[in-house]
Amino acid sequence: MATNRTFTMLKPDALESGNTGKIIDLILSKGFQIKAMKFTVLTEAQAKEFYIEHAERPFYGELVEYMTSGPIIAAILEKDNAVADFRALIGATDPAEAAEGTIRKLYAESKGRNAVHGSDSDESAAREGVFHFAANEIF
Ligand code: RTP
Ligand code: MG
Repeated sequence: MATNRTFTMLKPDALESGNTGKIIDLILSKGFQIKAMKFTVLTEAQAKEFYIEHAERPFYGELVEYMTSGPIIAAILEKDNAVADFRALIGATDPAEAAEGTIRKLYAESKGRNAVHGSDSDESAAREGVFHFAANEIF
């Protein structure tokens, strides 16, 4: 995947709270273009594999349970400096520490149920995009 792309998921709490339209509108308003997007429900195996880097962390089981608890929206986004700019737009992992105007400050419930995922590097963005989308599903 090109280095001007990142990968995101709107997490189950964002879909439950009905905030997906506002979140997508905010993302578009910041200059990100959508290159792939779908609704899906992660299987336990998919959630475990997606967050495998956290397998040894105490919150891993809770994270997998949460990420499989309902539908998500997965998407590939394009913009100059996409990974860093999107991480800035989503804000800190814990909404209590997230800056004003960030997606997590506006819409996250808690550190665990924090509304949105953003890739942390170009390498992660490439891995995560391919994890969720076939080549012909990416524009
Ligand atoms: P993400 O990967 O989802 O974009 O989030 P992140 O980089 O900001 O945070 P990360 O450290 O990668 O953690 C992944 C997700 O695990 C949940 N988490 N819960 N209860 C806790 O202490 C805790 N810590 C992390 C969150 O859903 C976090 O986004
Ligand atoms: Mg992360």
